[in-house]
Amino acid sequence: MKETVFLTGAGSGIGKAIAKKLSADGYDLVLIGRRLNKLQETATEINRPSECLELDLSLGSQIVTDTVKSWIQDHSENQVIGLVNNAGQFLRSPFGDDQDDWDLLFQVNLMGPVNLTRALWPHFQKNREGRIVNISSNLGQTPVAGTSAYSALKAALDNFTKCLALEGGAFNIRVNSVAPGLVDTPIHDFHQKDDSGSLQLKAALHGMHPLSRMGQAEDIAGAVSYFLNPNNSWTTGAILNVDGGLSLTSKDP
Ligand SMILES: NC(=O)c1ccc[n+]([C@@H]2O[C@H](COP(=O)([O-])OP(=O)(O)OC[C@H]3O[C@@H](n4cnc5c(N)ncnc54)[C@H](OP(=O)(O)O)[C@@H]3O)[C@@H](O)[C@H]2O)c1
Repeated sequence: MKETVFLTGAGSGIGKAIAKKLSADGYDLVLIGRRLNKLQETATEINRPSECLELDLSLGSQIVTDTVKSWIQDHSENQVIGLVNNAGQFLRSPFGDDQDDWDLLFQVNLMGPVNLTRALWPHFQKNREGRIVNISSNLGQTPVAGTSAYSALKAALDNFTKCLALEGGAFNIRVNSVAPGLVDTPIHDFHQKDDSGSLQLKAALHGMHPLSRMGQAEDIAGAVSYFLNPNNSWTTGAILNVDGGLSLTSKDP
């Protein structure tokens, strides 16, 4: 049986680096995202079998469940052992102006992971094997102003991680979170819209970290690989800061 991992947001940034690392680790992958062309780019860059599933996680539980169930039915030769809930969006606006942020981020950043996990949970329970990694954020523990939706929902994701670690233990399902600091990915492209200040801002973002640099997507991929590795099978319910020390500082560029 081929050990297979579902990975969301695999077409860019952290997700693409996770796809490369996990394929090097020997897993087959199901790459999930909205932009099929980006997923296919990732698929051609990794040297193991992978499938691309075009799926908008904001569309709700039914479509997610149906998509996962039918994939598993059609691929009985694969043993799905893992799920990496990486897809997410970042929006920033003052509380009061942020109703749309809450609605969208609730569906994508929180219910996306919840719905995918729910779709795979019975499969993991039946097989007594499941490894789930949620990509949360440093902001889930120490927020900055203007990010109440993003930060509160990442905090909820970390709490979801801990609760599922408690419930999954009896079924050999391990659930952990990786909480990145600022990682240099397209999620920060909105900074580029700032006029000439954008380069200065980027320098400031690097400088906020005690290790004096923003993270690279590969920094996060290494942590995900650790949590999925069967040799690390006694770790569950952990929230691992991979953040260049950012969580030790007071921050806000
Ligand atoms: N970069 C950072 O500084 C940082 C820090 C802390 C946490 N994180 C977290 O890390 C994760 C990855 O972010 P990133 O930095 O790699 O950003 P990114 O390059 O913008 O990647 C985000 C991914 O999420 C997917 N996505 C967004 N909305 C989706 C939806 N409705 N349905 C399905 N897929 C969706 C996108 O793919 P499509 O557009 O193809 O759908 C994209 O591949 C996110 O959860 C983010 O909150 C990032």
